Amino acid sequence: MTGEATATLELDDIQSGVLRPRPTPYAATYILLRIDDRKAGRELMRRLGAVVTSAANPTSPLADTWVSVALTYQGLKALGVPQDSLDSFAWEFRQGMAARAKALGDTGESSPENWEQPLGTPDVHVVIVALAPDAQRLEAALDQPRKAYKELPGIAAIWRQDCHVLPTETEPFGFRDGISHPAIEGSGIAGTNPKEQLLKAGEFVLGYRDEMGGIQVTSPEVLGRNGTYIVFRKLRQRVTEFRQYLKANSTSPEDEELLAAKMMGRWRSGAPLAICPLHDDPELGADPRRNNNFLYEEDDPAGFKTPGGSHIRRANPRDASVAGVVRLHRMIRRGTAYGPPLPEGVLEDDGADRGLMFAFVGAHLGRQFEFVQSQWINDGVFFGAGGDKDPIAGSNDEGGSLTVPRRPVRKRLQGLPRFVVTRGGEYCFMPGLRALRWLADLQT
Ligand code: HEM
Repeated sequence: MTGEATATLELDDIQSGVLRPRPTPYAATYILLRIDDRKAGRELMRRLGAVVTSAANPTSPLADTWVSVALTYQGLKALGVPQDSLDSFAWEFRQGMAARAKALGDTGESSPENWEQPLGTPDVHVVIVALAPDAQRLEAALDQPRKAYKELPGIAAIWRQDCHVLPTETEPFGFRDGISHPAIEGSGIAGTNPKEQLLKAGEFVLGYRDEMGGIQVTSPEVLGRNGTYIVFRKLRQRVTEFRQYLKANSTSPEDEELLAAKMMGRWRSGAPLAICPLHDDPELGADPRRNNNFLYEEDDPAGFKTPGGSHIRRANPRDASVAGVVRLHRMIRRGTAYGPPLPEGVLEDDGADRGLMFAFVGAHLGRQFEFVQSQWINDGVFFGAGGDKDPIAGSNDEGGSLTVPRRPVRKRLQGLPRFVVTRGGEYCFMPGLRALRWLADLQT
């Protein structure tokens, strides 16, 4: 935790996928590679470095298409990164996501032994994420990275997951996603809540001062600088169970929508309960100038509008009085849906696998991703709700509960099942462009 702070971000060295908001709609894909030969791995870094665009110049040669590259700890090892450099990375990253299963609530059917292969195994080394406005342009965008690894013996493509963001930006449960993003000092990219102060760059990019006054530095400095940690998780969503639960616990279709909104903290349109607590307002939901412009403490300290236990209030309590300092637990999120959308009104399971490719971007795996996942999503103590978990994303194995504050008497929802099952994931490091060259130039 030493080093110099820099006032502005070196956008030309940061991969565009870290900071740039994405277009809507888009098609994306995750490709996982295994490095069987160290020299081939280094050549791969050189070739991928030529394909990745920087945050200063987000347009690729194929305009509107982006490619990002990240490595797991096992991947850095496979490239032959020296041990003292490996040791300078975050402890959680060195452990890997599968080893952190208990802390993350990945138990029972979500536990790593039930994950989709090869997720969570030492075989996952490199992650390529490509995105484009549609599936056709995505295939074209993939040409270059594909060339980079296909011609290289010693590099094996081991997994691919296609995903997408619909024009409505709805995730499989039917809620508009991709609304709330933090504003980052020096990035020139506005956040979406005008009431939230800029966050220090070091919360999201290594090598800059963070909210605690520290600077994360690796050895050598060039390896970590302008890089960030990425968490990706394939989360299966049980859409029919979710719909059935809403139906079984409501007295009318309107009541179902209100219940869904109380669980999420927003109506499905994206309109926040904090601004329109009694009925949906689709125009507000779609308006980026208004749909994230709110706080909780002054207006709704007890959660009569937005329950403390709802997904968005847990995941970012904003200014609400909770144990802990909220600004230390913020994150950039990039959620994309996978699988076929389930047509509206269908209550019977069609057997298809669908859900969210959840992606976190941040410089602090422990106090950002792991903290939010373990303390705010899978526990309720921080806001006085005992062991209650997130009604949407919590690991509610034995029947969860949610308190919905109401007058004259609160409503207590019981028997919440697990609507989201972890299919696997990885902790990755997304290097800056100079660091990619450093990895390519490794000699020993
Ligand atoms: C399948 C599981 C999940 C679903 C369906 C889901 C869905 C959503 C939706 C619809 C929103 C509101 C839109 C927005 O504010 O952009 C949201 C917000 C958010 N979610 Fe999730 N989410 C899931 C899992 C997670 C997980 C695992 C985390 C963190 C560990 C997380 C963190 C957040 C955060 C930080 C916000 C923004 C809250 C705010 O600033 O108001 N979500 N999520």
